[in-house]
Amino acid sequence: MTVEKCTNTPSKLPGRFLWGAATAAFQIEGAATEDGRGPSIWDVFLTQPGTTQQGDTGAVTCDHYHRWREDIELMRRLNLQSYRFSIGWPRVVPAGSGPHNESGWSFYERLVDALLAAGIEPFITLYHWDLPAALQARLGGWANPEIAFIFADYAEAAFRRLGDRVRLWATLNEPWVVVNAGYFEGVHPPGLRDRRLGFLVAHNLLRAHAHAVACFRAICPGGSIGLVLNGGYAFPAADTTEDAAAAERAMVAQLGWFGDPACLGGYPALLRERLGAVLPELSSEDIALLKHPVDFIGLNYYFSEIVRHAPGRTPLEFEVVPQPHRPHTAMGWPVTPEGFSPLLRWLSRRYAGVPIYVTENGAAFDDHPDKSGYVYDPQRVAYLREHIAGVQEAGAEGVDVRGYFVWSLLDNLEWTHGFSKRFGIVRCDFETLRRTIKASGHWYARLIADGGRVAVTPSDLAARRQREG
Ligand code: FCB
Repeated sequence: MTVEKCTNTPSKLPGRFLWGAATAAFQIEGAATEDGRGPSIWDVFLTQPGTTQQGDTGAVTCDHYHRWREDIELMRRLNLQSYRFSIGWPRVVPAGSGPHNESGWSFYERLVDALLAAGIEPFITLYHWDLPAALQARLGGWANPEIAFIFADYAEAAFRRLGDRVRLWATLNEPWVVVNAGYFEGVHPPGLRDRRLGFLVAHNLLRAHAHAVACFRAICPGGSIGLVLNGGYAFPAADTTEDAAAAERAMVAQLGWFGDPACLGGYPALLRERLGAVLPELSSEDIALLKHPVDFIGLNYYFSEIVRHAPGRTPLEFEVVPQPHRPHTAMGWPVTPEGFSPLLRWLSRRYAGVPIYVTENGAAFDDHPDKSGYVYDPQRVAYLREHIAGVQEAGAEGVDVRGYFVWSLLDNLEWTHGFSKRFGIVRCDFETLRRTIKASGHWYARLIADGGRVAVTPSDLAARRQREG
């Protein structure tokens, strides 16, 4: 990607482009047992010994449940135009189905009303991984086909409650991670390693998504609803047709697995060919529901990979080539801004006509406050600047990208990594719960005030040249 092109140029993004930041209920709210909230599978999982190194839990985290007014004030100071957050399903329907919890719903109503009063557009995710624990225990969670209807009931309640004030909705956050981490690798709840079950869970997630979209069409005709995918660009390791085909397979297997059904109405042919019977059949009812495609794709982008053909590594015959020479974030993820615009272009080619929101992008670094309390995080500033330049490049080339949300507004509970990984543009001190806008937050606020102009500095370019060898 040519970064120079973006140097000090005005934003090429559409006028309606939204600049925002994102969070998720379980990661920031705390108040885990307050006002009628039920436990989620994450509450259960993190209290099992050994699931986080430090024994961190979601009991308090950023205490956003009590400090949401202060957090909206921060968003205002950051000039955010939109805020993506999730509804905690167990806060509003403590057992997942059955009685609703009025205090939970009124919490989100207050939050939405205050955001609107502050001129910040709410963007709601319905499922950011916090399945009510009762649904897992009673029904087997996402493995049970009934879950699609149960999720749609919860979604319907959310649309009825908030659909008059909230335009932007996402059904599921990163279903690929739900399946891979929860059912293939066993590192997220429910902690299983069962390939066949994983494909069934993926199928039920897609069915749940489709039922919720159908319901949205009936209740919120003026709104927009989408599905949030995660992934990176796959660069072929060598300039050969084999590696190029392997890289394409890697992207189709990750993004197309969920993106194709939601946008095109069925699984990619590649998966059908290579996975055979392990991939469940969509029923005619599911196909009919999926015929109403999403209004947008949400994309969570963190890094890209290099992929090569790996004959014999069935079923997909590709492997990822490590990139040890690159700088890595505190998560151990390579910093690869050059993959962002090719990925956006890839998505806009495959799902022509479907707009894209970048629903998450950001980086964890071990930043600390200095003696005066100031948090200087130049690596995050560089990361954001270079990635936003990638979004602008794609926008300039005609990709219909409509918004960008930094992950994350606040340092928060990074799932099994606990509080050890800081992604925020605002620091959260987990002892005092005090918030401090980091240098990256001030930088982002200026960027927004300036209409999204990205200045790529000589040191960014030098860093890039060094990375690219
Ligand atoms: C994404 C998740 C988000 C956060 C970031 C770092 O996969 O959606 O909750 O954990 O990664």
